[in-house]
Amino acid sequence: MLPGRPRLSRAQKLADAADIADLRLLARRRAPRMVFDYVDGAAEGERSMARAVEAFERVEFSPRVLRDVAEAPTAVEILGRRIAMPVVLGPTGFTRMMHREGERAVARAAERAGVPYTLSTMGTTTAGDVAKAAPGGWNWFQLYVVRDRVRSLEMLSLARDAGMDVLVVTVDVPVAGARLRDVRHGLTIPPALRWRSVLQAARHPAWWFDFLTSEPLRFATVEGAPGDLAGITNLMFDPSMTIKDLEWIRSAWQGPLLVKGVQRVDDAKDLAAVGVDGLVVSNHGGRQLDRSPTPLELLPEVVDAVGDRTEVFLDGGVRSGADVAAAVALGARACFIGRAYLYGLMAGGEQGVTRALDLIRAELGRTLQLLGVGGVGSLDRDSVRLR
Ligand code: GLV
Repeated sequence: MLPGRPRLSRAQKLADAADIADLRLLARRRAPRMVFDYVDGAAEGERSMARAVEAFERVEFSPRVLRDVAEAPTAVEILGRRIAMPVVLGPTGFTRMMHREGERAVARAAERAGVPYTLSTMGTTTAGDVAKAAPGGWNWFQLYVVRDRVRSLEMLSLARDAGMDVLVVTVDVPVAGARLRDVRHGLTIPPALRWRSVLQAARHPAWWFDFLTSEPLRFATVEGAPGDLAGITNLMFDPSMTIKDLEWIRSAWQGPLLVKGVQRVDDAKDLAAVGVDGLVVSNHGGRQLDRSPTPLELLPEVVDAVGDRTEVFLDGGVRSGADVAAAVALGARACFIGRAYLYGLMAGGEQGVTRALDLIRAELGRTLQLLGVGGVGSLDRDSVRLR
């Protein structure tokens, strides 16, 4: 009789994942469909997300040959500090829903990889616990301005007390985007064990076992009653926020201040005038306004307009180290990633995030060498065009 298919250990499955797409498939197998879809999905027709990814498909590199690429270092300096590669682990909500270790696992993997980690306002681990998990990491904090401004200030001081010195203010959520996959699944935070989730539980026992035996899922920073995500967001976030609030945040926060969610050149100029240290060209991974500008396409215009005054970052559609190289060539100081590491987290906790970062780092280094570029710092617009 032929032997059955060998049962591979999780570590072996992660090691066999050859790219982020493979980690995505492992994640889809491990996590219940509604959890996977919360990460994998986007708003409305998901066009913003699809276009962000498709823009990277159109990248054409222009390699130089016969250059000495024996060394092609990936390290860069951002906001005055050196990091191992131009990648920032972006803020993601409810990260303990993807894996019981949640934010702690991500922060530890980032620390080990030598790149920053950004804890979300919608996180499920406190800033203090992230700092304890990754005391040597460069931990950042992401702020949503909530209706109660005193509460917003308290969040800042909790982050500061935990040693977080970079603040990322997200400005593209005046109200919640319509994530139709979540609506169709009836996703609540925390996920409720209902008939359809019981059926899913049978197919994803390891995830449900972890979920039901770990610390209950709740927001660590904001006070929010459990419920559907859009309801929580609309109740807490302040849609009347303006650029005046940024001036107020600027005065309340001494460290570097980044604004994430910039989608127009004129807004970029106004923000640069407020004195922010960085802008993140982002449409929230396509999770907010559908049919919004495609970050990779908008990036060069923003860099041309404000790149001499503020550091410009890109977020959206980044699924490989080659994507990172393309974005940096088009002017990004670094890329934020979200889904790319969350697939790893869902597939295998901290080890899965580490696998995602190892893959991106190897892809980036190899791309630099094949491009004939002797380091990330030498990437320029001549290295790439969009077909
Ligand atoms: C949270 O910010 C989300 O995009 O789900």
